[in-house]
Amino acid sequence: MLNIILMGPPGAGKGTQAVTIADEFKIPHISTGDMFREAIANGTPVGLKAKAIIDAGGLVPDEVVCELVKERLSQKDCEHGYLLDGFPRTIPQAEALAEMGPSIGRPVSLVLNISVPSEVLLDRIAGRRVCPKCGASYHIRNMKPKVEGVCDRCGSKLIQRKDDNPESFKVRLENYFQSTEPLLAFYEKSGLLHSFDGNGNPKALHDAIASLLEANK
Ligand code: AP5
Repeated sequence: MLNIILMGPPGAGKGTQAVTIADEFKIPHISTGDMFREAIANGTPVGLKAKAIIDAGGLVPDEVVCELVKERLSQKDCEHGYLLDGFPRTIPQAEALAEMGPSIGRPVSLVLNISVPSEVLLDRIAGRRVCPKCGASYHIRNMKPKVEGVCDRCGSKLIQRKDDNPESFKVRLENYFQSTEPLLAFYEKSGLLHSFDGNGNPKALHDAIASLLEANK
């Protein structure tokens, strides 16, 4: 069963890889960042709570995120696997997932970590353009869309995320090292962790991830 967590610092390429992997292995891509951005766009109570925190690069409170993820993982489309992108991000979130996964019959089976040196990340974030509709991610130099400013997959107009600025990025990276990176040891201990070099060609990274998933289907 492919019940997967995708980890890595901001800009590592989690979203880029998740979109194609989810398509190929026919499992839902569950990005907590995308869920919050959708909630913000729709002006829901969760969105109103999260907006200022996300724009500044902070972390949304654990109980808000955990509630959202439990509800999402319980949906029918997750019964044959799922790809979590951006969750868990703190030890309490990982503990909550370790409890909720088995309790709904969907325990985590693989943790994929994409590692990229910090000095590469800011350039990736500053040049990123995203599709607000399907979540696809591009870069103004490294991964250009076929038509400038337009999503290859769904034709929507690309935008720049509000938190993709140097100040918010600095906070996100600090939060990553302080709260999220320690989870790697947590998952290494449980034997679920697989690490990948994310500082090369995205297609090569995709192929390395896909061959691990094929072997664990
Ligand atoms: P989220 O949306 O999860 O943001 P993030 O973790 O900071 O990750 P990013 O989306 O920035 O990066 P990515 O790794 O997906 O990179 P991408 O593939 O786009 O979360 C946003 C916010 O929501 C958080 O800050 C927090 O406030 C809140 N939140 C979400 N989950 C939460 C939780 N669990 N708890 C609390 N708060 C939570 O790639 C980046 C760029 O690089 C793109 O331009 C891409 O084209 C390019 N690129 C990708 N791969 C390569 C490559 N191999 N070579 C060159 N360029 C590449």
